[in-house]
Amino acid sequence: MAEKQKKLFIKTWGCQMNVYDSVKMSDVLLPLGYETVDSPENADMVILNTCHIREKATEKVFSELGRLNKFKKQRAEKGDETLIAVAGCVAQAEGDVIMDRAPYVDMVFGPQTYHELPEMVAKATGAYGANRIVNTEFPTESKFDTLPEEGNAQGVSAFLSVQEGCDKFCTFCVVPYTRGAEFSRPADQVLAEARALVKSGAKELMLLGQNVNAYHGEGPDGKTWGLGRLIRELAEIDGLARLRYTTSHPRDMEDDLIAAHGEVDILMPFLHLPVQSGSDNILKLMNRKHTADDYRRIIEKLRNARPDIAMSSDFIVGFPGETDADHKDTLKLVEDIGYVFCYSFKYSPRPGTPGAKMGGIVPEKVKDLRLQELQALLNTQQKAFNEDSVGKVMPVLFDRKGQKNGQLLGRTPYMQSTHVAANERLFGQIVDVVIEDAHANSISGTVVTEETTSKNSKNKKSSEGRAAA
Ligand code: 5AD
Ligand code: SF4
Repeated sequence: MAEKQKKLFIKTWGCQMNVYDSVKMSDVLLPLGYETVDSPENADMVILNTCHIREKATEKVFSELGRLNKFKKQRAEKGDETLIAVAGCVAQAEGDVIMDRAPYVDMVFGPQTYHELPEMVAKATGAYGANRIVNTEFPTESKFDTLPEEGNAQGVSAFLSVQEGCDKFCTFCVVPYTRGAEFSRPADQVLAEARALVKSGAKELMLLGQNVNAYHGEGPDGKTWGLGRLIRELAEIDGLARLRYTTSHPRDMEDDLIAAHGEVDILMPFLHLPVQSGSDNILKLMNRKHTADDYRRIIEKLRNARPDIAMSSDFIVGFPGETDADHKDTLKLVEDIGYVFCYSFKYSPRPGTPGAKMGGIVPEKVKDLRLQELQALLNTQQKAFNEDSVGKVMPVLFDRKGQKNGQLLGRTPYMQSTHVAANERLFGQIVDVVIEDAHANSISGTVVTEETTSKNSKNKKSSEGRAAA
């Protein structure tokens, strides 16, 4: 007998891996009769999928929980039960604190145990407040072995997790503690999920991992495959038009992966390769295990393989010990590389990380000034890149509908968000667009041709990935 329909609301913070995990959680709950809804008020189950990477994470979760408890009480008055769950990296790091401070929370589980949701739900349902669950172990079996391959469709541009966890232990970062040790999924499992995603309508796959280019999965031939090998194999899937991967570490940028950028047509010419700082002193304190010049050399190799590759990075300003000279080294690196889009943050000490115990704390005011200076430079570069696109024809994958009627949103090969007045039937297609306007965070243009078939088949030669002047 089919389960009674129940409403599930998931709120997701943080990285793309969390977005992927939230989809998988809804997939696991689908056979139990849970259907995803857009607001928490009337939901039978609410999951907060949290992020612990920077400060105030825990406080944000508690303020959201307070709001949810009101809904839970209102529903209880009508005799309806509401399960409240906290998932993700705050759950992993602070599970017991959450259980103590918020007695109305029914379940706390980390990023490696959500495949056990059916059992957790079974134990937690029943009397209000009974059987509270904390499930933050790192199980020996991989959740990927039991997660359903098919479920809630992700759409035109889909995430696919291939690697998880991190062994790098950068001194500012909580990820090795919250996500656990590095793990790569076997290649045939990744290929099967990729085929299923393409079958359900995906044109673009974003391969995900906390340190995705450290991928070293078992291949069907019994050998260990690196990310370059995996990408070449994925590129053979009929109907797949674009491949991307994120997030990478410079130390794992192997030659075979760099070569793939020059050889695999559907691997998009945009790479997020965080460097964090341009100062060798700070890179050392951060335990990054490479110098600024090592990074420059990697970018040079990438540009030799794929001259039009656009670069993106993350930066942290105000790490303990950072001097004005160190900060200038970061600005110099930014000038040397020339980025198209970056994220930059003020350092925030994370409990349990070595950075949190380091001396040489940079005053908040200095962090503010450095961040402003860095962001001004990054914004100038981003603006210049967008302005440089004007007049060019670029293939845009329409993956979202615009707020206005008759407007589609999409991405160029370089990840630029592109607004176009276009017929709705072009949704999900890759279409040549002549870029007419550049804005701070996006570009806009007009459809050149609606004959999209050649760009949606990987077997035919197309202008995909190359901006024609
Ligand atoms: N403080 C500030 N930024 C951080 N990041 C990670 N940990 C911290 C921290 N403690 C940033 C890094 C990373 C991105 C995901 O978040 O730049 O690449
Ligand atoms: Fe964190 Fe990335 Fe460093 Fe791993 S490589 S510790 S995920 S910043």
